[in-house]
Amino acid sequence: MKYPVFRRYIFFTLLQFAIIQASIGQTVKPPRADSDQRASQLMAQMTQEEKIQLVHGAGGVVPRGSAGWVQGIPRLGIPNLYLTDGSIGVGNNVGPAVALPSSIASAAGWDMDEAYKYGNVIGVEMRAYGVNVNLGGNVNLGREPRNGRTFETKGEDPILAGKIAAMHIRAIQDQHILGGIKHFALNDQETIRATVNVQIDERSARETDLLAFEIGIKDSNVQSVMCSYNLVNTIYACENSHLLNDILKGDWGFKGFVMSDWSATHSTVAAALAGLDQEEPTNTFFRLLPQGLATGQLPQSRLDDMVHRILRAMFETGIFDYPMSNERFDFGTDSAIAQEVEEQGAVLLRNENTQLPLDPARINSIAVIGSHADVAVLSGGGSAHVIPIGGPALTEGYPSPPSWAQVIWIDSSPLQAIRAKAPAASVRFDGGTNQQDAAALAAACDVAIVFVSQWESEDMDVPALTLTDVIHKTPIDQNALVEAIAAANPHTIVVIESGGAHALPWLRDVNAVLESWYPGQRGGEAIANILFGTVTPSGKLPMTFPSSVADLPHPVIPSVPRSTVNYNEGLNVGYKWYDAKHITPLFPFGFGLSYTTFAIANATVTNNLAADYPGFIVTFDVTNTGSMAGAEVAQIYVGMPPSTGEPPKRLVGWKKVFLQPGEKQQFAIEVDANDSSHPLSYWDVDLKNWVISPGDYTVMIGNSADNASLKLAGVVHK
Ligand code: BGC
Repeated sequence: MKYPVFRRYIFFTLLQFAIIQASIGQTVKPPRADSDQRASQLMAQMTQEEKIQLVHGAGGVVPRGSAGWVQGIPRLGIPNLYLTDGSIGVGNNVGPAVALPSSIASAAGWDMDEAYKYGNVIGVEMRAYGVNVNLGGNVNLGREPRNGRTFETKGEDPILAGKIAAMHIRAIQDQHILGGIKHFALNDQETIRATVNVQIDERSARETDLLAFEIGIKDSNVQSVMCSYNLVNTIYACENSHLLNDILKGDWGFKGFVMSDWSATHSTVAAALAGLDQEEPTNTFFRLLPQGLATGQLPQSRLDDMVHRILRAMFETGIFDYPMSNERFDFGTDSAIAQEVEEQGAVLLRNENTQLPLDPARINSIAVIGSHADVAVLSGGGSAHVIPIGGPALTEGYPSPPSWAQVIWIDSSPLQAIRAKAPAASVRFDGGTNQQDAAALAAACDVAIVFVSQWESEDMDVPALTLTDVIHKTPIDQNALVEAIAAANPHTIVVIESGGAHALPWLRDVNAVLESWYPGQRGGEAIANILFGTVTPSGKLPMTFPSSVADLPHPVIPSVPRSTVNYNEGLNVGYKWYDAKHITPLFPFGFGLSYTTFAIANATVTNNLAADYPGFIVTFDVTNTGSMAGAEVAQIYVGMPPSTGEPPKRLVGWKKVFLQPGEKQQFAIEVDANDSSHPLSYWDVDLKNWVISPGDYTVMIGNSADNASLKLAGVVHK
C-alpha cells in the first residue's frame, strides 16, 4: 500500500544518547509570529503608487555599489533595499570584502557548522557595508560540470546542496540580512541561458533540481527566491505558474517573495499572475501594472499579495528592527574562516608513494610552477566575484565576451606560504609559459608543485572538461605543461584551482593531486598547510569527476539560441548517472583522500521503517587507524526498493567526524523520512505527493559513493 509520509514521529528515547547530532537535521528558527500582521498594518497605510514602487527595482545608478535597489518609503519608515550578490563574499562593487573559497569548496567540506560560519562572514560584512538583501544561495545542481557557475553551486547532489545552502542562508539571515536562493529553476548551463528551454518530467524535476530548492528553502526560512533566465518546459521561469504558484508558494508554502533575475522578466500581467512578485533591476514590464489593474486583468488582491510578501520578508528577517549603523567587520576573523573553509574543503585526489605531506627536513629544493602562484590565487568571474581585501593581486582581461567579466587573482601567494613552510629549502618559481624552462627548473629540484587553473564565469560555460586556458590570447596548454613537468621530475604534485569537475588526462603520471577549488582570500596559506601536513585534508567531492566528456549525459551543450535541452537522464543526475549506466568515473562523488586512515565498522540499523517510526538510525564506529589527526566523512546511502524505479543509491545523511590518531568513537545518523529532503520517498506524479514505497531498502555506509560497501541488511517496510 502506498501512502504519503506525513505521519506522527515518535522518538525512541533509549536511542537518544547515541545521536551525537543528526548530521543534516539541525532545526531552523520558526517564523516570527507577527510578521504577517505588521506587514498588513504597514501596507494599509500605503498608496497605490507606493505599492507599485516596492515591486520593481529602481534602476539607474545603484547606490552603495550593489547590483540593484528598491526605493524605500521614508514617510512610512520603509528603508531602501540594497540587492547585493554574495555567494562567496560581498559582491558587486560594494567591497572590498573577504573573498571566501568558492561555495563548492564549502560543500566539499561536508560540515554544517563550517557552512554556517561561511554564511556568517557574508552576513556580517554585508551589515558593515549597509547592504541588506543577499543575492547568493546559488543551489542550481552541478549536473553539467562545464557550467561556468559551478563554483557558486554546492555540487550535484540535491540533499548536500540544499543542506549546505540552507546553512549559508540561515547564517546570513541571522545577521538580519534578507536572504536569497537562486536561480529557480534548472538554470544548469550558462550557454544560451536566456533562451534555453529545459525539458524535464515532473518527477525528475521534483527529485533533482527542485529538491535542492525545497530543502534550501524549508531548512533556512529564506525570504527571497530569484527566478531564472531559462524556460522550463517551454515557459520562462519568471512567468512559470507551475513553478512559482503551484510548487513554490503552493506545495512548499513559501511565504517570501519572488524576484526576477536581472532582466529575466518577459511580461507584466502574465508574470504577476504566474507568481513573480518583484521585477529586477528595473521596471521595464512592471511599470505597466497600473494598466493591468485598471483593466481588471490583474486583481488588486494580487498586487497586495506581492507587496505583503516583500514587507513580510523584511519584518521576518529583522530589516526594520535591526537597522544598520556603522558596523564593522574584522578582517582577521573573517579571513581566518576563509582559510579554515579551504582547509576543510580542498580535496586530495591522489597521493602515490605518500608523496604528501611534504617533510621540509627532507627537501632541499622545490619548484613552484604556473598560475601566478608567486602572487595569487584565482577566483571565479561574473556577478559572484568579490573585490578582495587588499584589491586584486592582478587582473587579466578576457579576450572575448562577456566583456564585463574580469579575471581576478586574489592577493594570497602560495609561493610565499610554501617558502614559510620550508625556510631552509630553495623554493623557486617559474610562470609556466615556457614548458622547457619550467621543466628545467622541475628537473633541478627535489619536488615540483604545478599550479593549474580553470577560470570560469557566469554567462559562459567552459569549453572542455580538461583544463582549458580561456584567459590568455595565446592560451597556455596546461595539460602539456603538467606532462612536461611530470617527465622531468618523479615527485610532481599538481594543485588545481578551479570551480568544478574535470577530466585529468595526466593523472597517472603525477604523484599527487589536490583540488583546491577557488581557494579564497587565504588560499595560499591553506594550500601550504595541506601540502606540508599542518592540516590533514578532509574535503570530499560534492560532484563526480568524469573520465571523459563522452561519459556525460549530454556530451554537447546546446548552444543555438532557443534550443531545448532535454534532461531525459531523468533521476540519474551526478553519481546516480554513473551508477545506473555502470560507468566508472575518474573520481566518484564523496571521494577524498586523507593523510591518515579510517575504519568505519560495527554499523547497525535500528528502528526499521514502520508505521509508527518513519525513519531509522544508523549507528557505527569510526576509528582513526593512522598516525595523524584528521577527519572522515561517513556517508549514508540508501538503495530504494526496485519497484520505485529509483537510481541504485541516493545520499541520505552524513557526518564529518574529527578524530585523533588511534581514537575511536561511536556515531549515529538519523534518517527521518519526514525530513525536508524526503530521504526515503519518491515523487508520485498521480498522487502529487511524496510516497514511501513498500519493499526492501538497502542501507549503505562508506566514505564515497562507490565505496559505500558496508551494506546492511535490507530495511523492510511493513
Ligand atoms: C545573475 C544573478 C545575479 C544578478 C545580479 C545576474 O546576471 O544571474 O545571479 O544575482 O545578475 O548581479
